[in-house]
Amino acid sequence: MVFRYLILGVTALSCFVHNVKADDCIPGNVLNLKIHVDGNLTWSVNPTEPCTVDSFQVDVEGDREDSYHVRVYRTFVDLSFLKTCEQWRFVVTPVSRGIFGHAIRLIDWIPLPANSDLSLDYFNLTVVGRNDVLARWELKNRTHGDCTLGYRVAITDRTTSLIRDVYVTGRSTHLNLSPCVPYHITIRAVNVAIGGIEGPLLSQFLEIPAFPEDPPQLRDIHVGPTYIHTTWRLENFIRNRCPVQNFYLDCGALFNYTLVVDDPDGRPPVRVNVTGLQPNTIYYLKASVENSGGISDSVSLAVQTLELDPGAA
Ligand SMILES: *[C@@H]1O[C@H](CO)[C@@H](O)[C@H](O)[C@H]1NC(C)=O
Ligand SMILES: *[C@@H]1O[C@H](CO)[C@@H](O)[C@H](O)[C@H]1NC(C)=O
Ligand SMILES: *[C@@H]1O[C@H](CO)[C@@H](O)[C@H](O)[C@H]1NC(C)=O
Ligand SMILES: *[C@@H]1O[C@H](CO)[C@@H](O)[C@H](O)[C@H]1NC(C)=O
Ligand SMILES: *[C@@H]1O[C@H](CO)[C@@H](O)[C@H](O)[C@H]1NC(C)=O
Repeated sequence: MVFRYLILGVTALSCFVHNVKADDCIPGNVLNLKIHVDGNLTWSVNPTEPCTVDSFQVDVEGDREDSYHVRVYRTFVDLSFLKTCEQWRFVVTPVSRGIFGHAIRLIDWIPLPANSDLSLDYFNLTVVGRNDVLARWELKNRTHGDCTLGYRVAITDRTTSLIRDVYVTGRSTHLNLSPCVPYHITIRAVNVAIGGIEGPLLSQFLEIPAFPEDPPQLRDIHVGPTYIHTTWRLENFIRNRCPVQNFYLDCGALFNYTLVVDDPDGRPPVRVNVTGLQPNTIYYLKASVENSGGISDSVSLAVQTLELDPGAA
């Protein structure tokens, strides 16, 4: 989430400005370069550093062509005046008796301060598809930016009281939800830089309207001379929780078969056995399923019954 990396290198300066002599001691790079929440830039000298490091050159460059250069004699410098949520490049070069050593570079943000206002202006939910809800929100005050903010969206299914947390960044996200479930959805900003300080909560109630199922899928079929035994998989109940009522098998002018489905937990497959058929005949079947959102599209199937087994006749 937070853009952060370290680059090691030799300062170009050390090669050109100073005439390095064979007996000069060139310090190695410093360690643990870090920018803290309060804008304190700190580092440490390698305990095995052979040179006597007497000062540090600190060069700071922002992404808006602003920069700051200072020579310090301790292993920290107060940079709390830099703008938060601007990306800065911090370069620290140890100096030993005027000789510049190896530089180390850190690219990071000054995180949002602990007292920044994390209130949200609005939290809007829009149903854009059967399983797709677009959530949008905005900070009330963007003065400090939002570089170290995450947002915690908590989705409560009010029929089961189960809660699901989603962590997101930015100002919008798509939530994958099911129709026919009453949800309570909350959001709050979290400043991840400061041990997760949380802002005030906004919430919405939402229920995606009932939607027909996807067409059933044939899972298993057994064909005999006078029967067709079928097993059908219905759409997963996690994607569509609208209660299933009927299963239809349509064979045009010959017969129509309706199976009442009680839609138990987990929505197991539906078995339909058609009997009393003519041997060696092609039957055109169309299967569909009805739930509280209506009747699904149908799936078609042509099945030829077997010839009568002369031995069994
Ligand atoms: C910065 O950090 C150093 C080392 O931890 C500490 O000694 C110093 O007091 C800090 N400065 C500020 C302004 O917090
Ligand atoms: C959010 O919802 C409110 C109230 O319905 C509306 O006034 C506002 O324009 C919406 N904002 C966005 C960005 O959709
Ligand atoms: C936003 O926050 C800044 C800094 O805390 C403050 O100076 C400013 O007045 C705030 N703006 C609004 C509109 O609240
Ligand atoms: C079965 O239903 C279909 C359409 O739903 C209809 O065209 C057909 O006549 C019905 N067949 C019988 C035997 O009722
Ligand atoms: C359908 O037939 C199979 C045997 O092929 C049988 O195990 C099953 O119980 C039958 N199902 C129904 C609903 O009649």
